[in-house]
Amino acid sequence: MLRVCVCVSGGGTNLQAVMDAVDAGTITNAQIVRVISNNKGAFALERARGRGIDAVSVSPKDYGDREQFNEALLRCVDDAEPDLIVLAGFLVVLPPMMIRKYEGRIINIHPALIPSFCGKGYYGLKVHEAVLSRGVKITGATVHFVDEGTDTGPIILQKAVEVLPDDTPEVLQRRVMEQAEWVILPQAVNMIANGLL
Ligand code: GRF
Repeated sequence: MLRVCVCVSGGGTNLQAVMDAVDAGTITNAQIVRVISNNKGAFALERARGRGIDAVSVSPKDYGDREQFNEALLRCVDDAEPDLIVLAGFLVVLPPMMIRKYEGRIINIHPALIPSFCGKGYYGLKVHEAVLSRGVKITGATVHFVDEGTDTGPIILQKAVEVLPDDTPEVLQRRVMEQAEWVILPQAVNMIANGLL
């Protein structure tokens, strides 16, 4: 049984997709053992608690400096003894020591087709604003392994989504989430849980 720790910062719709897939049996051999957020008020924590999953916040505001926060975050992850760490809308730059310790066992969902519209500053709505201002006709989402760069690790899955003429960033974000993120993130977790990668 793959022990999965999910790191979140916001609404948790990607977390919800993974929890629903576990409950529906489209993810097998995996169990979410802890959800961690840097944001005490993240609705994602409520979603986890609603499913009886251990939900913990580790907030930078509670630590004197970045180093102390990084150590607390790593301790919180280690305590869950995860086999896989899933970054689902997690807006914290992971400490290098954590990336090294869990190399090859951390995955991230990015709301664009890497290598397009990714890297520093490309997160949340900003991604979709850039997609619309560039005028591309196809966008999508990517699940990739996390390395010490930003959105630079090996790509696992991608799914394309059409950009429509009257799209706003919010409408496009929702379509990318519904048609791509919520599909490929559970798929990637299931592949890893069943040795298909
Ligand atoms: C969204 O912008 C999503 O595209 C990206 O992270 C943000 C929050 O997603 N992956 P979630 O609803 O918290 O999963």
